[in-house]
Amino acid sequence: MDNVKDCSMVTEHIESGKRKVTLSLTVNGRQIVRDVDPNMTLLHFLRDNLKLFGTKEACGEGECGACTIIMNGQAVTSCIILAVEAEGAEITTVEGLAEDGKLSILQEEFISQDALQCGFCTPGFLMSTRALLDNNPNPTDAEIVEVLGGNLCRCTGYIPIMLAVRRAAERERKELGR
Ligand code: FES
Ligand code: FES
Repeated sequence: MDNVKDCSMVTEHIESGKRKVTLSLTVNGRQIVRDVDPNMTLLHFLRDNLKLFGTKEACGEGECGACTIIMNGQAVTSCIILAVEAEGAEITTVEGLAEDGKLSILQEEFISQDALQCGFCTPGFLMSTRALLDNNPNPTDAEIVEVLGGNLCRCTGYIPIMLAVRRAAERERKELGR
């Protein structure tokens, strides 16, 4: 999992005695412009500012994958990225997977394969594996396992998650022509 570090120029100004930067980015297809604290993480920007609570915080150190989102086509851990580093970026969070209220094939397969229990880790797994399937519609089991290694689950076990991803890949190729 790579964390993208290059960011474009952002506009800085003082607001009520505090440094702020104006951030412009696209989140789940929606253009967003906000003034943010330059030290705010992308995770807290998504949760606290945009109220997208699907992205979870656990370790806060880039180790567990709970906060995984897709940024410019790559799965990244949003807890170790500053919001300003996302200037101009295209971001997808778990809220962006369903379309018109219908769960995506990947989400459906997590449910049908019983690939979640408490669900806390699930958004991170969904986003890591979404990025995998976007970049590689026909991954081998070894490639799926390698991606799953970046996300920690304490209750479900990894076999159902791997089966869900494998089955989702099969269905996406068949039903979406990927
Ligand atoms: S909360 Fe970001 S990797 Fe654990
Ligand atoms: S489903 Fe509970 S931590 Fe993964």
